[in-house]
Amino acid sequence: ELGNYPHYMLKEIYEQPVAVQRTYSGRIGPTHKSANLLDIKITLPPQLNSIVFLACGTSYYASQIGKYIIERETHIPVRCEYASEFLTSARLFNRQDLVIAISQSGETADTREALLIAKRKGIEVAGLVNVVGSQIARIAGQGMYLHCGAEIGVASTKAFACQVAALIIFMLYLKKHLSSIRVSGDITPAHTPLLEPSPSFPSPQPNQPSSSRLFDPPVTKDVNGQPLEESIVRVCSALRDLPVLMQHVLSNTTTMSTIDEIVAFMKDRKSAIFLGRGIGYPVALEGALKMKEISYIHAEGYPAGEVKHGPIALIDEDMPVFFIVSASDSVVLTKIVNNMEEISTRGGKIITVTDCEPTNSDEKVQAQLKRVRSISAYTISVPCSDLCCSPILFTIPLQLIAYRIAVEKGINPDRPRNLAKSVTVE
Ligand code: F6R
Repeated sequence: ELGNYPHYMLKEIYEQPVAVQRTYSGRIGPTHKSANLLDIKITLPPQLNSIVFLACGTSYYASQIGKYIIERETHIPVRCEYASEFLTSARLFNRQDLVIAISQSGETADTREALLIAKRKGIEVAGLVNVVGSQIARIAGQGMYLHCGAEIGVASTKAFACQVAALIIFMLYLKKHLSSIRVSGDITPAHTPLLEPSPSFPSPQPNQPSSSRLFDPPVTKDVNGQPLEESIVRVCSALRDLPVLMQHVLSNTTTMSTIDEIVAFMKDRKSAIFLGRGIGYPVALEGALKMKEISYIHAEGYPAGEVKHGPIALIDEDMPVFFIVSASDSVVLTKIVNNMEEISTRGGKIITVTDCEPTNSDEKVQAQLKRVRSISAYTISVPCSDLCCSPILFTIPLQLIAYRIAVEKGINPDRPRNLAKSVTVE
């Protein structure tokens, strides 16, 4: 089954383009531009308060990416809850919420128990699950399978990519149903420019009671003011192009030789920090988790802007700092470059994963790219994609770095110590 691969983890990293294709096939067709989401049946509460994701570990980080994508594209509020903590937060949710469990194995005890708590409260539940017929899939009773194939390596790699792809598809599903979803409460979406009314969600009239602050007339435009149908086509075509871009990362010789250098630099280190902003933040968390569990190097993921509020005290010439720099998020780009400079002036060794492309014609992006490259000791560039898809591309080099360090250190990456593929105890 391993074929020519020395480990399942490496095999599964390389299987990701095909796995992602399997997740969207039948849902996003090769020829038609829009989404055909007929196999997805997730009942949405008639008046939706929020979407709540329940998950653990890597699946939790995928849910944070889902939160970012759904809130950005639909303005529906999303909460990510660690399944193991849901016991204390469950009281905040009711039948106006939709609870979705995200799990590769479908057997994680914490996620299963959290889902049962939600179900017992009469909340509408669903699952994003890989293993067909698993407990979580059966309890959820509705949702989406990832169809990413069996994942054998203990560390989640291709399941993570497929979870993000499934969350993008779920976002499209919400977009398709947006005109019929009524969202309750007074929502000020994060991406609405301050002081400007959102194009899709008009401000409530002062004489309306809060319970009737509904989207009426039906939503026809997305967060960017783009007609909904056009934005669905944009995301569909980005998803369809994604496997080719992923393959590009996996077969890029410059990327591989930079990874060689990073591995040589990292393998005897004790600690590392991973930083990102916006959609790059959960990618940083996932990068740090892979580094910890596979390479046994202590790694912390942090929002890049938070570092100056404490962790910056850790920075000296011995501290490697990974930055996830997304060029397609222009607001975040300038700020994260400032954060990189804060680290660089304190001697931190910067390793950057970016989708800034040297060919990008935007002058401002070009200038930032120059700064990024001059500050970084090592830079890995992945291809540009739609912001929704970029986390999948950013994660691939981080998976490869963790894998390669493990192998260099004589660790079996498929069986890291103290870990099991499914965690069936609470
Ligand atoms: C990390 C990893 C774990 C799992 C977590 C949840 O690489 O694999 O953190 O993501 O145990 O597992 P599932 O998704 O099976 O519920």
